[in-house]
Amino acid sequence: MPRLLIKNAKALVGAFAPGMQRVAGADMAQLPIIADGWMLVEEGRIAALGPMSDFPGIADWSNLTVIDASGRYVLPGWCDPHTHTVFAAPREEEFVDKIKGLSYQEIAARGGGILNSAAKLRAMDEDELFQRSKARLEAMMAQGTVAVEIKSGYGLSLESELKMLRVAKRLAAELPLQVKTTLLAAHAMPAEFKDDRAAYLDLICEQLIPQVAAEQLADFVDVFCETNYFTVAEMERVLASGAAHGLPGKVHVNQFTSIGGIQAAITHGALSVDHLEVMSDSDLNALAACRLADLPIPTLLPSCSFFLRIPYAPARALIDKGLPVALASDHNPGSTPSGNLNLVLSLACIQLRMLPEEAITALTLNAAAAMQLQDQLGSLTVGKRASFIITRESPSLAYLPYAFGTDQIDTVIIDGKPFRSGAALR
Ligand code: NIG
Ligand code: FE
Repeated sequence: MPRLLIKNAKALVGAFAPGMQRVAGADMAQLPIIADGWMLVEEGRIAALGPMSDFPGIADWSNLTVIDASGRYVLPGWCDPHTHTVFAAPREEEFVDKIKGLSYQEIAARGGGILNSAAKLRAMDEDELFQRSKARLEAMMAQGTVAVEIKSGYGLSLESELKMLRVAKRLAAELPLQVKTTLLAAHAMPAEFKDDRAAYLDLICEQLIPQVAAEQLADFVDVFCETNYFTVAEMERVLASGAAHGLPGKVHVNQFTSIGGIQAAITHGALSVDHLEVMSDSDLNALAACRLADLPIPTLLPSCSFFLRIPYAPARALIDKGLPVALASDHNPGSTPSGNLNLVLSLACIQLRMLPEEAITALTLNAAAAMQLQDQLGSLTVGKRASFIITRESPSLAYLPYAFGTDQIDTVIIDGKPFRSGAALR
């Protein structure tokens, strides 16, 4: 396997010490940066790094590609801990309905929304679903994403939920990025079960979760805990069944209404609580009162707020209360048609008022932690996967989120291999 030496980097960003698990509160702004840095990659892993002033030289120059990164930043690749990237088709007709004034909930009530996506997915063969999802992930990798969590939730039947998860597993096997998978059968109530909700919960807890766990098709379980979707009690049943089968929760809570989902997620030891656009003081305090070891990672999705024109999550209040924050794209056909984490970086700074350093931490180490990948990804640390971004020549780190909507990425390396090759490699 070829070795890589990056030298003269304007800075190595996110050079966290080994063992760092997640970053909380005021520490999120203290991003470790090595100015004028070098980094050696061997066997797809980060082998060594440091400032050029301490560069020890290389004993063996064989099979070594040297990249001069003068003027460029080197950052850990983006991690995306909340997506619905396996889906059949976009829903731009609903986008136009939204422009005309309908809300997300009104569109769902008319048979659009998640049930619309489920009908299309059930009708699509597995290979076609794989090919379409693969193209989306390739676009995301070109934009710097090196790890992704993918949820089911557009199948809403035993057979079609399993189909989605098999497709996600095949993506994991055939693409270079890291993939974690989540069973989100409790995404919307399928029409067949609308008069017998308990029977659908039985199907999820007594058939799907045991089978998915036995076949290792999912790492986590999720529930859309929301008015008109799933109640707190229903979410608790799914989380308890998931925990009994070794699948921690990563849950959709407080997107439109605050109904107690956060408190229940904490009780059930969830790994992350996602969305959080609508937060009461008691929701914030429940998170702030957690011991760090019991704390689900608040995972914010500003591109969903942007697209649906709903409130932005209170990132400042969460960070100021000493909590860790992660960011994700929420890429899905209904509320976030974009999987571009560079846009999420800009929205986090512009709309969530996160500092560039905080937002980068939230898209790297904390995002990796929100899918249990913090020991492999999320920082430039010896021993981790060599999955990183080399930027275009850039005047400052703040320029990356500042120059929103413009492509600031030059090169993307995944596990030591170029996925996107820019000027830095030539
Ligand atoms: O995270 N909120 C629920 N699920 C998705 C949207 C799903 C859809 O509309 O297809 C979300 O926003
Ligand atoms: Fe989502």
